[in-house]
Amino acid sequence: MKISIIGAGQVGATTAFSLAKATFVNEITIVDLDERRAQGVALDILHGLSLSHPVKINAGGYELTTDSDIIIITVGVPEVIGESRLVPLQKNANILKSIIPQITENSQNGLILMVSNPVDILTYFAQQISGWDPTRVIGLGTTLDSARLNYLLGRDLDIAQTDINGLVIGEHGDSQVVAWSQTTIKGIPFDEYVKQNGLTLDDDYKTALAQEVKDTAFDVWEMKGPNCYCVALAIERVVQAIARNENTILPVSQPFTEETYISYPAVINRNGVARQVKLNCTADEQKKFDDSYANIKHVASQIEL
Ligand code: 2OP
Repeated sequence: MKISIIGAGQVGATTAFSLAKATFVNEITIVDLDERRAQGVALDILHGLSLSHPVKINAGGYELTTDSDIIIITVGVPEVIGESRLVPLQKNANILKSIIPQITENSQNGLILMVSNPVDILTYFAQQISGWDPTRVIGLGTTLDSARLNYLLGRDLDIAQTDINGLVIGEHGDSQVVAWSQTTIKGIPFDEYVKQNGLTLDDDYKTALAQEVKDTAFDVWEMKGPNCYCVALAIERVVQAIARNENTILPVSQPFTEETYISYPAVINRNGVARQVKLNCTADEQKKFDDSYANIKHVASQIEL
């Protein structure tokens, strides 16, 4: 499994480290406009691999990405704390116009995993520019927000976050929706768990927690600069599902319709999005999701590709 990471910033570098530690990756290529920085990140990891396991790591330009299985895109203009992820859209769309042809020139049969924001729209644009089959162009999407939801619910319920299957759908951004009806605690629906265990986690709690899921990324940013560890772990999880041909269900940004991408659960395997998973959300959740979809579609339509 050869992975190329475009962008050697905090997210790209942390992802390179995380994937170098993973057992399902043989080769990592780090590409950055600042080739010296990319080489520095690669060397830093390479120096420690006799203490871990051998992985080939290259750093430099796009010519090194030849025949990548997955190309992870992390480049973009810096985001501003508290600002909507939609703001950097036009600038990042322009960046995509210059980098996607360099990716497709070197790899014809790989998958693109988009991380840059606004991820849902940029994933759609990456598909449009590359012309690749939509199932082979995926965005990290609300895999990240769902992990944050698991953490926060684990904290409040005093339960291991790995026992919680929280689900956030819609935009990876302000209009995202916590699908409480699909959220389970070790298979027990959230509302039933709360009732059976005599807890008082009412609608006000749900509203506040859904807001915290959104805000917590910015809290981290204020405390230590851009989020990177949670992002790298989420990327590693998606890459693992692909590399191991797992058929795992993950809420990634996917071709929901032909008109745009949005985060929704999908079965992920070696081919990318194998199929979309149908949900039976409440009417309120469905309405919020539809609004989120309409919002993304509207914003995407404002951009000149
Ligand atoms: C995140 O949620 C900034 O979108 C990035 O961590």
